[in-house]
Amino acid sequence: MVEQQPSVNELKEWRDLMLMHRFALEEVNTKLKILNEEFQFLHDYNPMEHIKSRVKSFESIGAKLEKKQVDITPENARKYVHDISGIRVSCSFVSDIFKIKEMLENQSDLKILRIKDYVTYPKPNGYRSLHLLCEVPIFLTNRVEKIVVEIQIRTVAMDFWASLEHKIYYKYKQEAPERLVNELRDAAKIVTELDDKMKNLNDEIEKYKFEQEEN
Ligand code: GTP
Ligand code: MG
Repeated sequence: MVEQQPSVNELKEWRDLMLMHRFALEEVNTKLKILNEEFQFLHDYNPMEHIKSRVKSFESIGAKLEKKQVDITPENARKYVHDISGIRVSCSFVSDIFKIKEMLENQSDLKILRIKDYVTYPKPNGYRSLHLLCEVPIFLTNRVEKIVVEIQIRTVAMDFWASLEHKIYYKYKQEAPERLVNELRDAAKIVTELDDKMKNLNDEIEKYKFEQEEN
């Protein structure tokens, strides 16, 4: 089979697309950092513990397009791959997840295209996380580009679970033994219980602090 070589023009389009995504990540990262610092300033508390971001590799974009059975072109990447830019925010408490969501919804230049709430409605395997698909404008010398960024927000405990599940999923090439799948589901339940427990403890500490300040 003769592989079709991409044209010079197409290569330039790929490079342009990847550059736009790097810019988009910078924009959203800055927004998140500002929100976190301002929140710290106002309430003496950080709703975000860690922020990680990555641009999807060219190989992974290609693999996703192949799976969707469409040609590997920059145009199709824009159209079908919504997680070229990905940001993951981890926080201490479930309530923080929704605080962060609200803060992002209030950013007038950020358009929320889609929300998947696997926190309130976990996936059958136990996965929990809040996914926002956002569109951010990038102001360039002669045009404005709108770029889609996937933001995943979860607690540190949910993140711990998701990282391990991801590792197992890949190790067994999507066919993990049933025992492991069941144990992961049990572990997800424990994560939810831990998140609830930590929240209750935190509420008590806050109440105690408040009472101390009152006296
Ligand atoms: P993708 O084509 O996989 O991106 O799916 P989608 O467009 O339907 O998006 P969805 O919001 O369901 O998931 C997007 C991303 O969330 C994935 O790429 C993963 O990073 C993460 N994710 C979703 N489900 C799981 C899961 O069951 N386990 C883990 N570890 N991560 C998940
Ligand atoms: Mg994905």
